[in-house]
Amino acid sequence: MGMKGREEMKTIRFAVCGAGCRGTGLTLDILCNLADVEVCGVFDPYTDKAEHLAAKVAEKRGVAPKVYASAEALFDAEKPDAALVSTSWEAHIPVTLLALEKGIAVAMEVGSVYDEGECRALIETWERTRTPFMLMENCCFGKDELFATALYRAGVLGEAVYCHGAYMHDLREEVSYGGKNRHYRLGEYSTRNRDNYPTHDLGPIAKLLGINRGNRMVSLVSRSSAAKGLSAYLETRDDLPELQGRVFRQGDIVETLITCENGELISLRLDTTLPTYYSREFTVRGTKGLYEQTTNLVMTDEDLEHDFEPLVTMRARLGNAEQYYDKYLPKVWKDITPEEIEAGHGGMDTIEFRVFCDCLKEGREMPIDVYDAAAWMCIAYLSEESIRTGKEVPIPDFTNGAYKTRPIQDVIEL
Ligand SMILES: NC(=O)c1ccc[n+]([C@@H]2O[C@H](COP(=O)([O-])OP(=O)(O)OC[C@H]3O[C@@H](n4cnc5c(N)ncnc54)[C@H](O)[C@@H]3O)[C@@H](O)[C@H]2O)c1
Repeated sequence: MGMKGREEMKTIRFAVCGAGCRGTGLTLDILCNLADVEVCGVFDPYTDKAEHLAAKVAEKRGVAPKVYASAEALFDAEKPDAALVSTSWEAHIPVTLLALEKGIAVAMEVGSVYDEGECRALIETWERTRTPFMLMENCCFGKDELFATALYRAGVLGEAVYCHGAYMHDLREEVSYGGKNRHYRLGEYSTRNRDNYPTHDLGPIAKLLGINRGNRMVSLVSRSSAAKGLSAYLETRDDLPELQGRVFRQGDIVETLITCENGELISLRLDTTLPTYYSREFTVRGTKGLYEQTTNLVMTDEDLEHDFEPLVTMRARLGNAEQYYDKYLPKVWKDITPEEIEAGHGGMDTIEFRVFCDCLKEGREMPIDVYDAAAWMCIAYLSEESIRTGKEVPIPDFTNGAYKTRPIQDVIEL
């Protein structure tokens, strides 16, 4: 446990590390709306961002959290129960390790890791300290992802053999204005080529397939397209003269194919620098049926009639997953309020933080642990290696064999 015993933890005192877009949004729209949470302190190397967040918290809750000069000073002075780590990618692991060492539970935002050493350090520190840790992969709590997982657990889709997901999000503006907005993605896209953000698509798939729990990812192959999207976008931006002619390394599309021990194939796509709509394309193909997020469509053995014109087949079923909601949509999604839907990513952020807080207070195991964090995030540096060498790359078993007997654990009861 963290600083307090479980019985005492009526209110969870959160320290916020990283007061950028995400840290600010989560603090104001989620943490400040939870009655049993108090935001006790903030650290960001950009003090103006930390002060801005502290002032906004004061507007909402009446008391301003103190702003500190380092994460260590914040942790030592406030002795918080939990830390929200919403820093830029390269600081996630160092700040998390510091908190875990001090017995402060960690809610670590998703991001990227750079080498195996970071994953090993996370696991070693957690195994030694047993301080509660959860990777805050909110898409695992998404309505479509949880609905499809419930459908799958009930056997409606048979046995899964293929899952697909994507992070399809036009980030050209966010990347290009990174210099002006002090955002880390600009440097990342200039110097590296990899699936830099694999967990939104992989996380829910790994949960469904029981990765680290009876199953594991064995190897991957990644390939990248050319990097042309950002340069073409920048040609239209007269207000960014300093970036004209810059050579970006990050391919516009990175595809990764992962082979699992139990025979499933996972396909992932990073797709962030071309014109597109937002989608995660969560898809499950089983021996008895399919679920497809983009069309919110279920098709089973009972429903096979189709036209050879795909649009005709698809239009006849578009959104038909809703017919299954009565029976299979998890209760949290039936009970969600309009305010919670408004608060963050259509409601999944509220559900995710509720689960973190409840697990912490009740001393329950966190549903996305260090082994999941390492297995999902390692795809970032392994995809980089596969693209560079052209070779298939083995994926480490971070559980050291324990995956063989660990039972399936969904992020909520389904
Ligand atoms: N789950 C989601 O849906 C979601 C959405 C957006 C962002 N994120 C994640 O949230 C994180 C932050 O993203 P963002 O868009 O807010 O970026 P941002 O650049 O706006 O904010 C990151 C902040 O972290 C600060 N920082 C850097 N090192 C730090 C340290 N050692 N201690 C404390 N703060 C430090 C930076 O100064 C910056 O203000 C990223 O990991 C990102 O992947 C998740």
